Amino acid sequence: MKRAFVTGAAAGLGRAISDRLIDEGWKVVGHDRDEGEHVAIRADLVWRDAVDQALGEAIAAGPFDLVVLNAGISATGRFETIPAEAHSQVLAVNAEAPIVLANGLVRSGSLNDGAHLVFVSSLSHFVGYPGAASYAASKSAIAIYARSIRKPMKRRGFSVTLACPGPMRTTQAARHAPPDARAEKRMTAEAAARSILKAALARRFLVVPGVSNRAFSLFGRFAPGLATRVMRKIIYDKFDRSVW
Ligand SMILES: NC(=O)c1ccc[n+]([C@@H]2O[C@H](COP(=O)([O-])OP(=O)(O)OC[C@H]3O[C@@H](n4cnc5c(N)ncnc54)[C@H](OP(=O)(O)O)[C@@H]3O)[C@@H](O)[C@H]2O)c1
Repeated sequence: MKRAFVTGAAAGLGRAISDRLIDEGWKVVGHDRDEGEHVAIRADLVWRDAVDQALGEAIAAGPFDLVVLNAGISATGRFETIPAEAHSQVLAVNAEAPIVLANGLVRSGSLNDGAHLVFVSSLSHFVGYPGAASYAASKSAIAIYARSIRKPMKRRGFSVTLACPGPMRTTQAARHAPPDARAEKRMTAEAAARSILKAALARRFLVVPGVSNRAFSLFGRFAPGLATRVMRKIIYDKFDRSVW
């Protein structure tokens, strides 16, 4: 039975990825800070000692054929109203923790031959995200990390996939969306999970789930200034509060 390690497996995208893998006959070792059906390892990735503890438990539960580093948090609003501590936590969970976990799992020989590593970044990597500056910075940091280790990992027989979902119908999106945002317009976590797993198992590097998100990522790449202005208008200018 193939074995996967998924962070943030109690809810949202991590839960949907875990459900799908289990349906397809995988054994999932889930991680989260909350309890959950698939959660075997509990740790709050804000704290480095908890990340190290989660890594030790994951190594003991391996080796793995697939690792999905998905857990993430955000901090949205006018950035000067958000305390520096919240920005640090966003960077710790979204960038530092997946780097430490990926590094530790590879160094300890916890990946089986041909294993897949998936890093969950965001569409914001291509378009910028006014009102979520540290979030956008953390998601670009993990995207560049994934791009940088792709070739060295390939030489060792492992594939690296960078997943850049757009807005999804999850708790995180609902907490951080502007007040007039319509949840039904966002992609379901199940659809995003399907697209991400398909790309990872096919050893594709980049996956942006959804046609309109792919179009927006191209817009961001070719007209970054304009795309950031659109993001400011549809998100930043509508914020009536800061959330972290
Ligand atoms: N939602 C979107 O629109 C969207 C768009 C692009 C990218 N993404 C990225 O996709 C990933 C999944 O997002 P999602 O929408 O599924 O989020 P979600 O619904 O909040 O689920 C994330 C899961 O990870 C857990 N988690 C968060 N911080 C953690 C920590 N410090 N330690 C351990 N577990 C933690 C959450 O626990 P709690 O419930 O306790 O927080 C939750 O169970 C994230 O990396 C996110 O940034 C999301």
